Amino acid sequence: MTSESTRLVSVWGSPGFGKTSVAIVVGHQLQARELPVFFLSLRGLKSKSDLTSKFLSLFRQARTLETNKLQDLSADDELCLIFDRLSDHCVIILDNADDLFECGAPNVKEEVFNLIEEILNRSDKVNFLLTTRESLPYLNLHFQGYRVVSCFLMRVLRLTKFSIQQ
Ligand SMILES: Nc1ncnc2c1ncn2[C@@H]1O[C@H](COP(=O)(O)OP(=O)(O)O)[C@@H](O)[C@H]1O
Ligand SMILES: [Mg+2]
Repeated sequence: MTSESTRLVSVWGSPGFGKTSVAIVVGHQLQARELPVFFLSLRGLKSKSDLTSKFLSLFRQARTLETNKLQDLSADDELCLIFDRLSDHCVIILDNADDLFECGAPNVKEEVFNLIEEILNRSDKVNFLLTTRESLPYLNLHFQGYRVVSCFLMRVLRLTKFSIQQ
């Protein structure tokens, strides 16, 4: 996640397999290395503008830019300005990303995908971690030109007692 060449890490697996837990642990480990981490759950979001608003509220809280520079800008322009001027490396965790991709509203998957690509293009200081139930290729999401690391989570059965009877 801290590698400059890997811009996106995809953690995928069935519900209950531990994706959110992994994302939280990774987030804490990165914060311990003094890397700013923004954690967003996309559960319940219905449009790209819902996601833009979430991004803006997080970045405004973090005071990434002076607010007086942002007057009269549209939400999209404000977000672009924030990523254009980002000076520190940061990681954005999008938990339950497929909740938004698959919410059923027309074009939302393409619009959100384009937004993530736009952010990756605008700033090489941002890395993403996405959690989804299916893999990104299965969701037909192909981040061309960026190195993506994909982690598939499987439920591991722990055997507390094991014996062989002959
Ligand atoms: N490594 C683990 N060992 C034991 N329980 C775990 C582990 N990882 C997650 N859990 C538990 O499994 C449940 C589901 O985890 P969660 O991270 O919410 O899964 P997902 O996000 O894939 O739906 C939670 O109750 C969590 O505390
Ligand atoms: Mg989860």
